[in-house]
Amino acid sequence: MSTEKVTVLDVQNAKVERKKLVMVTAYDYPSGVLADKAGIDIVLVGDSLGMVVLGMEGTVEVTMEHMIHHIKAVVRGCKGPLIVGDMPFMSYNIDIGEAIYNAGRLVKEGGCEVIKLEGGVDFAPTIEAIVKAGIPVMGHIGLTPQTASALGGFKIQGRDAAAAKQIMDDARAIEDAGVFSIILEAVPAPLGKLISEAVAVPVIGIGAGPDVDGQVLVYHDVVGLYDRFVPKFVKQYAKISALILDALREYKKEVQEVSFPGPEHSFKMPDEALEQLKNLIKD
Ligand code: KIV
Repeated sequence: MSTEKVTVLDVQNAKVERKKLVMVTAYDYPSGVLADKAGIDIVLVGDSLGMVVLGMEGTVEVTMEHMIHHIKAVVRGCKGPLIVGDMPFMSYNIDIGEAIYNAGRLVKEGGCEVIKLEGGVDFAPTIEAIVKAGIPVMGHIGLTPQTASALGGFKIQGRDAAAAKQIMDDARAIEDAGVFSIILEAVPAPLGKLISEAVAVPVIGIGAGPDVDGQVLVYHDVVGLYDRFVPKFVKQYAKISALILDALREYKKEVQEVSFPGPEHSFKMPDEALEQLKNLIKD
């Protein structure tokens, strides 16, 4: 995309220019720095942090305070990509005023530029109100992890024609409400293609096939740092857990056999100062 700060306009133009958008999650300073160095277009501080960083079973327990804490850390290290803050479960579901207030907190206190929330037709009025308040919104439809239990678990959505039509209706409704882009999760690839063709805003897929306007993956999945659950749509480009485990085991071994720290990791003291010290402390 550009070497400057990526903007909402850049993201919208990418679809017109047929440039695939590259998006990844990040949750802390080091992952933000690396996403920035890699030239990623969009960084999502996702509520998936509940699972991959905080060890929770799902995303439902994640709070506004968790999100603000992690968004701040990413913002400190990540200067180029557009930074999206994820609205946690129940921060936008109760009433529209509260949704605007909480979206504002992610931007004002966290420092992200835009927010994302899950939901289709039913959340169009909420999206419209947040956009009108001046905060750009990224939508999220298909498999919506915060309400996965209502969808029958973490599984593919839109397999039959009626369910697929509902997801298409969701896409159109949130586009009309003013989202600047849409995350489409875990749907058949042909549905991904049809939705991308049907809406003017970029559709960024995660398990939605190749014929959408960009892809997003969870950072820990891309680098192989979270093995508890690896969805079919994930490609692990590295196996970082194995490297970290080797390093920790080697460190343990070297400390136990006193081959670490070696002279190159130790500070010297002038012989004369050492002799003086020994004289000073002898009884
Ligand atoms: O929270 C998250 O990481 C997400 C992505 C799966 C899109 O919402």
